[in-house]
Amino acid sequence: MTTIGTRNVLITGGAGGIGRLMALKVAALGAGVAIWDIDEQRLPAVVDELKTAGARDAQGFVCDVSDREAVYRAATETTASFGAVDILVNNAGVVSGKLLLEIADEQIERTFKINALALFWTAKAFLPAMVERGSGHIVTIASAGGLIGVPRQCDYGASKHAAVGFDEALRNELRRSAPGVITTVVCPSYIDTGMFAGATTRFSRLLPILHEQDVADRVVKAIQLNRRQVLMPPLVRTVPLMRMLPVSAFDWIADFLGVTRSMDEFTGRVGTPAD
Ligand SMILES: NC(=O)c1ccc[n+]([C@@H]2O[C@H](COP(=O)([O-])OP(=O)(O)OC[C@H]3O[C@@H](n4cnc5c(N)ncnc54)[C@H](OP(=O)(O)O)[C@@H]3O)[C@@H](O)[C@H]2O)c1
Repeated sequence: MTTIGTRNVLITGGAGGIGRLMALKVAALGAGVAIWDIDEQRLPAVVDELKTAGARDAQGFVCDVSDREAVYRAATETTASFGAVDILVNNAGVVSGKLLLEIADEQIERTFKINALALFWTAKAFLPAMVERGSGHIVTIASAGGLIGVPRQCDYGASKHAAVGFDEALRNELRRSAPGVITTVVCPSYIDTGMFAGATTRFSRLLPILHEQDVADRVVKAIQLNRRQVLMPPLVRTVPLMRMLPVSAFDWIADFLGVTRSMDEFTGRVGTPAD
């Protein structure tokens, strides 16, 4: 069991969506909370919210996690001003929602830089101190799209498969070299933050569009309980099992569940790079 109130937590993409809600949740538990976000204008208001919610300390840093040097700079700045990071939540993410042949090359690269490569830069920045202290926690917010390939998610899904693979390899590296440092991977299906606006579900009981607060609460609970994996809703847990079926049967089930048509009406958030 991890007592979050005594810890310093850093959340990337913490000025919006589930990042902000996770930040508020750990703030209410008394944690020190640092948030990184690309959105400079939203940061001060969220930092104020975190202080009001009960954070021991709350600080915001502008950082575009797609930029490796910016990540290293922000990490130095964060450690100097906020202190050592005990729990790193890699949450910032983007989606294009386009068919492969419609996605600009630069957008594919940007998706990978934010959803996959940034995990490496933040871990390389904060892991050495965690290893030295003999304790720490790295949380990767991946996606159910990191377990199953969905049309209009070639870039997003591949980057999230990378995120799932990153977590698993790191988890096993740390089990041997630094057992006090643990990882958690989070694979939710669609959440009502607006990032996936327009995405649909065929069976809303089996595969509901998740509520952002429920997801944020589940992730924070998983950190407290040192859970290594959060797959939600429960049906997502069957995906690895379904992979034992022939590919045609696996694809049939994905069609039947509506998964392969779930992005047909995707719009994404207006004003984002998905436009
Ligand atoms: N929403 C879903 O259905 C869903 C499902 C499964 C997994 N996830 C994953 O959950 C995570 C959070 O999703 P969400 O729905 O909360 O997203 P969101 O509402 O779009 O919030 C993401 C936050 O990250 C920020 N951000 C984007 N690019 C960034 C960058 N390069 N550097 C720093 N910050 C950046 C965003 O700022 P701007 O608003 O200024 O871009 C925003 O504040 C993502 O990794 C996503 O892939 C989401």
